[in-house]
Amino acid sequence: MTKDNDRIPSAKDDPEVVRPGDGGLPNELPHHTRLIDRHAVLEKNATLLLVFSFLVVTIGGIVEIAPLFWIENTVEKVEGMRPYSPLELAGREIYVREGCYVCHSQMIRPMRDEVERYGHYSLAAESMYDHPFQWGSKRTGPDLARVGGRYSDEWHVDHLVDPQSVVPESIMPKYDFLGRATIDGARIADLMATHRAVGVPYTDDMIAQARADFTVQADPDGDWEALVERYPGAQTRNFDGDPALTEMDALIAYLQMLGTLVDFSTFEADAG
Ligand code: HEC
Repeated sequence: MTKDNDRIPSAKDDPEVVRPGDGGLPNELPHHTRLIDRHAVLEKNATLLLVFSFLVVTIGGIVEIAPLFWIENTVEKVEGMRPYSPLELAGREIYVREGCYVCHSQMIRPMRDEVERYGHYSLAAESMYDHPFQWGSKRTGPDLARVGGRYSDEWHVDHLVDPQSVVPESIMPKYDFLGRATIDGARIADLMATHRAVGVPYTDDMIAQARADFTVQADPDGDWEALVERYPGAQTRNFDGDPALTEMDALIAYLQMLGTLVDFSTFEADAG
């Protein structure tokens, strides 16, 4: 193979190319407009190409990642959002443990079909206390971001115990064992401290009262004034209708809270 064969062909060798000055209509752009020709330098030099590729990726990376270092400014503050109450947080742990996110998303996208079906599109602030977030990546079942208040507690109990009893065509598995698993909140303060370590603003008072708040939320005869003061809007009642405090109570407390914290009748998106 001669050296000549390796030469990259240029427009000069192409008999079809007519330049200005050759006579006739030029079909090649004047030289000074051919910025693209300078790209050939990169294409012929692997190291230079690598350096420039790295540069381009770096700029893209900085533009996408840098704002997240100031996440407090990036997430718009929204009235009503608060850390989860101890019982809701325990319910959320069960939701994660049982892998509900495998079939359910918690993120309503700002598209008409979704907004009409599920309600106002999800705000970043609505998952700011979620560690890890539960946006999900697949909807075998419906989105649950605003399922709170859509059904009665009894419906949820029936549905979790035997989904096909209320939705005959459902393929959701049964979670009847949740109603038999009693809980006492023995480790709830530790769980809240862990969430505080990753940025959830639980106060010392909240953590000190964690276990009491945990049990009182599902106790219809309890004195839950202090709980509601700490967690405004917390719903208090016996969620599963069974006197024992079970995982079913915690999960339903969590489901009934989803999407109810922000009042969308008064919410106005603030572009500032
Ligand atoms: C194998 C997939 C699958 C898993 C896992 C699953 N679900 Fe479902 N879920 C569905 C399907 C499908 C539906 C729609 C039919 C129905 O209502 O049962 C549904 C419906 C629901 C609904 C009613 C939503 C609405 O707006 O009508 C709730 C609430 C729910 N699931 C909660 C849960 C919880 C909590 C878990 C975890 C303990 C869970 N699901 C796990 C598939 C699943």
